[in-house]
Amino acid sequence: MIAGTDTTSGLLQIMIYFLGENPHVWTKLREVVNQTIKSDADITYENLKNLHYIEWIQHESLRLGGPTLGMLLRKATKDHILKNIPIAKGTGLIINDLPNQCSEQYFKDPYEFRPERWE
Ligand code: HEM
Repeated sequence: MIAGTDTTSGLLQIMIYFLGENPHVWTKLREVVNQTIKSDADITYENLKNLHYIEWIQHESLRLGGPTLGMLLRKATKDHILKNIPIAKGTGLIINDLPNQCSEQYFKDPYEFRPERWE
């Protein structure tokens, strides 16, 4: 995976997927965009910056299907004991962030695609 490019295109792909899966979000996004952008002249940095709904869709897409999920790779630099599991120096580790991002502890109805939760 190439930093900055595969990540960005991966996010756009998964956003399109979630919009397809959630037509009510797609409809609301169209409304929000149409209210703000009425002509080409309205495509300004300020207007785009204020389209917060798109930002929430990005966050929610990254939470449930981000392109780097399960890709945090590390190597132990010293011997560790992690929750009673010994991890020897030099061991390669994959940090899986999905359990946290789908945890009831942090997100109500975690498997629902709900951009408003980022408001
Ligand atoms: C949605 C888009 C993006 C996602 C999901 C993403 C995800 C990530 C993640 C998870 C890491 C941490 C990797 C690790 O520590 O093992 C990272 C690091 C990094 N990303 Fe991105 N990234 C995105 C966009 C970008 C863009 C657009 C750029 C550059 C223009 C970029 C440049 C970098 C750099 C330089 C690092 C290394 C930072 C460091 O270790 O100090 N990323 N990215």
